[in-house]
Amino acid sequence: MPPIPRTSLPDGTVVPALGLGTAMMGEQRQRAGVEVAALAQGLDLGMTLIDTAEMYGDGRAEEIVGQAIAGRRREVFLVSKVYPHNAGRRSAIAACERSLKRLGTDRLDLYLLHWRGSIPLAETVAAFEQLRRDGKIVRWGVSNFDAGDLAALCALPEGRHCATNQVLYHLGERGIEWALLPWMRARRMPLMAYSPLAQGALLQRKALAAVAARVGATAAQVALAWLLRQRDVVVIPKAADPAHVAANRAACDVTLDAAALAALDAAFPPPAGPTALAML
Ligand SMILES: NC(=O)c1ccc[n+]([C@@H]2O[C@H](COP(=O)([O-])OP(=O)(O)OC[C@H]3O[C@@H](n4cnc5c(N)ncnc54)[C@H](OP(=O)(O)O)[C@@H]3O)[C@@H](O)[C@H]2O)c1
Repeated sequence: MPPIPRTSLPDGTVVPALGLGTAMMGEQRQRAGVEVAALAQGLDLGMTLIDTAEMYGDGRAEEIVGQAIAGRRREVFLVSKVYPHNAGRRSAIAACERSLKRLGTDRLDLYLLHWRGSIPLAETVAAFEQLRRDGKIVRWGVSNFDAGDLAALCALPEGRHCATNQVLYHLGERGIEWALLPWMRARRMPLMAYSPLAQGALLQRKALAAVAARVGATAAQVALAWLLRQRDVVVIPKAADPAHVAANRAACDVTLDAAALAALDAAFPPPAGPTALAML
C-alpha cells in the first residue's frame, strides 16, 4: 500500500494529508460503537489526523474521538474547533478545557476558530496564545476564513502564528482556487479541505463516475485523489462505514493522469473570477 502523502505545517511539523472527519458523529447513541471502530480503523490505516469540534453532536463527537484515541494519543494529530461565540479571552480557554476533558487528553495539536464571529480576532488570538503558552494547544488556526479575513488576522501582531485555514473544498466547489488558495500558498500556509465528497453529493455526478471507471477507482476515491495530488492540502473525509474508511485510504493509490485531470476540469471547471467563500 503506497504511503499516505504528507503535508508540512508552517512550524515544520509533518502531518498526513489524509485524515478523518467526525461531523455528525455522536448524534445517535446506538451508532457510537460503529463510529469509534471506524476512527480506530482509520488510525490503524495511517490516517492519524482527526478533525472534530465542540459543535459536533454538542460535544459528543469529541467523546467518540476520546474513546477511539484512548491508549494511543501519541499516534494522533488531534484537531478541534471552538465556536465563535466561545472565542473570547476567557471563554476560549474554558471551551478548550471542556474539549480536552471530552477528548480525554491534556493537549490539542491544533485548535481552530470554527468561523469568524463578532468577538474581535485580537481577543481570540490572545486566548489561543495563552493556551499555547499553557501547553493546552500546540498551535492554532482558523476555519471558513476568506482571503480578506485571513489578511486581517495575519496583520495582527501574533496573527503570523496561524497554522492553517480549514474551508469547504471539493471538485464541485473550487472558488478558493481564484484568490484564497494562492494567498495561502504564497505564505506557505497549508489548507484543510472539508466536506471533500460534498457530503456524498459529488458521488452522484456522472462525469466523476466516468473518470472513476477509466482509472479503475470509485467516484469517492477520484474526488479524494484529486485533492490529495495538491501536496499542501489536508483532506478530511468523514466515514463511519468500515468499507468507506478502507476505500478512502486506498484513494492514495489512485493516480490521475493528464487525461483524467482534463476530464475533471471540463466537468468541474475552476473559477473564472473572484468567488465568495462557500461554507456549510
Ligand atoms: N470547518 C467546518 O466548518 C466544517 C464543515 C463541515 C465539515 N467539516 C469537517 O470535514 C469533515 C468531512 O466533511 P463532511 O462530513 O461534511 O462530508 P464528507 O466527508 O464530504 O462526506 C461524508 C459522507 O460521505 C460518505 N462517504 C465517506 N467515504 C465514502 C466512500 N469512500 N464512498 C462513499 N461514501 C463515502 C459518508 O458515509 P458514512 O459515514 O456512512 O461512511 C458520509 O455520508 C467533517 O466530518 C468535519 O470533520 C468541517
